[in-house]
Amino acid sequence: YENTPAYIYKEATDASAAVAQEIASLIREKQSQNKKCVLGLATGSTPLGVYKELVKLHKEEGLSFENVVSFNLDEYFPMDPSSSHSYHHFMHKNLFDHVDVLPENIHIPAGNISLDQVHDFCLDYEEKIKSAGGIDLQLLGIGRTGHIGFNEPGARSNSHTRIIVLDTLTRRDASNSFNGIHNVPQRAITMGVGTIMSAKKVILMALGENKANIIKKAVEGNVTPLLPASFLQNHPNARFIIDSAAASDLI
Ligand code: F6R
Repeated sequence: YENTPAYIYKEATDASAAVAQEIASLIREKQSQNKKCVLGLATGSTPLGVYKELVKLHKEEGLSFENVVSFNLDEYFPMDPSSSHSYHHFMHKNLFDHVDVLPENIHIPAGNISLDQVHDFCLDYEEKIKSAGGIDLQLLGIGRTGHIGFNEPGARSNSHTRIIVLDTLTRRDASNSFNGIHNVPQRAITMGVGTIMSAKKVILMALGENKANIIKKAVEGNVTPLLPASFLQNHPNARFIIDSAAASDLI
């Protein structure tokens, strides 16, 4: 696939290690230039192995996150940051608490603001990304709807950070960890497709058989708002890094 090449690793752990190494080299490269490294980060089960590996590199090889500025893709709305369901909680538990990233350099959409504050919050989030110099590397997972961030089918290619309504399939996929679909928030704040497309480099990861079907469509199918991950085919520097199970439907 000329535009968005798919890199297939036999095991999920190998895919995660490769992505962690790539992030670590970028952090070090920027350090050597005395520059900040701006990372766009995802939550969910897919990047867990990457974060685990990055924590290991910090502890065992002294990889420092002092020059890292991070912007997370999304957060449920409404959602209290102290809730165990929040993406704030996820990021601290799985990465930030274990490395030397500066708290003031961490950005995650706020799920605990009032609805009338959301518009200004989203504009400000975009502004902060811009003033940090843009995202150097954006890490993505993919939902079974084809969403990236929480840009569900129908999202526009030029969309920016905003509040969205989650697809029913997305809420169903989250229902286990929320103890039932009725507890899953109906909405979320997410970076837009346009925000993601502005990143200098994009890595979309997919692991496991239940992503095989959507990966086939995202990589081999047409570019369409009905499958937001397909927009990455138009990104000059995007790659799909997947394991053999997620690659099983590719031709
Ligand atoms: C999470 C996010 C979502 C997930 C996607 C896959 O911040 O933006 O797009 O990446 O829903 O989730 P998992 O990895 O749990 O299958």
